[in-house]
Amino acid sequence: DPGPGLEAALALIADVPDFPEPGILFKDITPLLADHSALQAVVAAIAAAGRGADGRPVVDKVLGMESRGFILGAPAALALGVGFVPVRKAGKLPRATYAVSYALEYGEATLEVHQDALRPGDRVLLVDDVLATGGTVKATVELAEKCGAEVHGVAVLMELGFLPGRETVGAVPVTALLTV
Ligand code: PRP
Ligand code: MG
Repeated sequence: DPGPGLEAALALIADVPDFPEPGILFKDITPLLADHSALQAVVAAIAAAGRGADGRPVVDKVLGMESRGFILGAPAALALGVGFVPVRKAGKLPRATYAVSYALEYGEATLEVHQDALRPGDRVLLVDDVLATGGTVKATVELAEKCGAEVHGVAVLMELGFLPGRETVGAVPVTALLTV
């Protein structure tokens, strides 16, 4: 049950018909991001997925997926008092990486993380803006596991409930502030 602050924040997400193609209703979060109280409410709610019942952080790192996951992931890490680890598209990270490829509607994408970004046993929270097919989250879970980390959960601003994202992600708990 979202409090009044979070509810008002989510109401700022704008519907854009026919973007990027005819028939697609795009959910634009930029008006929400541009509003300080809304951004604060959303970041606090996402960070809550990395806290235990007593409110204390239970994760060692936040992982955010390039690029929109960076916008919410880094401030969520600050709110939790932990560091941020970028999961990047192929070829962007300069040192030794683990890589995981996953299928897109047309073709394939690859995500990478620095091999030394996490320590074995680290507990991590994954943060992104949207859970759609779940391919991005599933690949990131695999990257965290290659590092020996334990995925505490996934927090997204928005889940597309008509796609099987949750099934694709599997056993990892998913927190979505909004389901459309
Ligand atoms: C979008 C969105 C999520 C992902 C969700 O990212 O930001 O990361 O798609 O889709 P999925 O659940 O089907 O994997 P995109 O790859 O478009 O890139 P961006 O974040 O750089 O805009
Ligand atoms: Mg993305």
